[in-house]
Amino acid sequence: MNDRSTVLVTGGAGYIGSHAALRLLEDGYSVVIFDDLSRGNIGAVEALWGALPASERHRLRFEKVDLLDRAAVRAAVSRCRFQKVMHFAALAYVGESVQIPLDYWRVNIGCTVNVLEAATEAGADRFVFSSSCATFGEVRPPAFAIDEDAEQRPINPYGASKLACERVLRDHFAAVNRSGGRLGVAILRYFNVAGSDPQCRIGEHHEPETHLIPIVLRCLAGLRQDSENTLTILGGDYPTPDGTCIRDYIHVHDIVGAHVRVLGALQDGQVRAYNLGIGQGFSVKQVVEAAERVTGMKLRTKFAPRRPGDPAVLYANPAKIMRELGWQPNYPKLEDMIAHAWTWIKSRPQGYGKA
Ligand code: UFG
Repeated sequence: MNDRSTVLVTGGAGYIGSHAALRLLEDGYSVVIFDDLSRGNIGAVEALWGALPASERHRLRFEKVDLLDRAAVRAAVSRCRFQKVMHFAALAYVGESVQIPLDYWRVNIGCTVNVLEAATEAGADRFVFSSSCATFGEVRPPAFAIDEDAEQRPINPYGASKLACERVLRDHFAAVNRSGGRLGVAILRYFNVAGSDPQCRIGEHHEPETHLIPIVLRCLAGLRQDSENTLTILGGDYPTPDGTCIRDYIHVHDIVGAHVRVLGALQDGQVRAYNLGIGQGFSVKQVVEAAERVTGMKLRTKFAPRRPGDPAVLYANPAKIMRELGWQPNYPKLEDMIAHAWTWIKSRPQGYGKA
C-alpha cells in the first residue's frame, strides 16, 4: 500500500523543488526527493533537514538518482512509498536550450517519461508537472495576457521540450484512465519565478546564474566581479515601451502554494492546466529600478544584443486558478520578491557553496 501522505519531489534539491519540499513538510506531508545534483544542490536538502525538528527529520528522504536511467528510477521508486508526485527536475535555461537543444529534448522528455512510468507502475495516482510559459512562444498584441486557451507555439527548444512533456502526460493519462486507472494530472505553467523563502531558510542558487533578479542583486552586492558588477541588459530594441523585455514575476512562495492547492483539489481522472503568474508585466528596466528602490543602491548597466530564444513580452492571465481553486498570491509585489531574494543573498552570499 502506498503512503497517501508522502510526495515524491523530483528536482527537490533545485530552486523551486526545494521550496515545494519545504512547504509540503510544513503542511505535514512526508517528502522523498529524487535529484541527481547536476543542477540542484545537496546544501538545499541539508537546509531542509535543518528546518525540521530532529524528531521530524525522518519525514524527508533523499535519493541521488539519474532520472534518465530507467532502471535506476524504477529501483529508487521501489525503495519508497508515495502516492503523489511533483515533477520539477528539468533543464530550464532558455538561452542554453538554444545552444544545446538535444540535451533539452533528451533530458526533459526522458526524465518525465521515466518518472511517470515508474511512479504510475508503483501505484501513484497524482502527478503535478512543472511546465512553463515558454510553451506559448511569442504572443502578439493585443492578446498579451496569456490564459490557458492561448495557442502554444514555443520559440525555443526549452519551451518546445516542455510542451512535448505536456503531450506525454496527456497521452499517458488517457491510456491509464481508459484501462480503469484513476490518475489525476496537473500541468502548471510558470511565468518568471523569483524571491526565496520569506524566513530565509532556503533560497535561489543556480550555477551558472542566468536569471535577471539574482544577477541584478549579485551585482549590487558586489558578487559579480568578473562582470565588474554591471548588469548586461540583453536587448534594448524590443517592441515594448522602454525597449526591454517584459516578464511576469511570481514569488516562489506563491508558486509552491499553488502546487499544494492543486494537489488537494485534483481528483481521479482529471487533467487540469493552470497558468501561474501575477498577471502584471515588468520590463528589465523596471526590475532594475525596483531593485534600486529595495536596496537603496544604484546599479551599473550596459546593453548587449538580444538573447536568442527570448520573446518580447510574456505575462499571465491567472484568473482560472483564482476562480477554480481560490488561489491568491501572498506576495504579488515585485518589491517583496526582490526584498526576500536580497535577504537570502546578503545572508548566504555563496548560496549553498560549491556542490
Ligand atoms: N536578462 C537580462 N540580463 C541578464 C539576464 C536576463 O537582460 O543578465 C533579461 C532576459 O533577456 C529576459 C529577462 O531578463 O528578458 C528575464 O530573464 P530570465 O533569464 O530571468 O528569465 P527567462 O524569462 O529567460 O526565463 C524564465 C525561466 C524559464 C521560463 C522562462 C519563460 O527561467 O524557466 O522564464 O520565458 F521558461
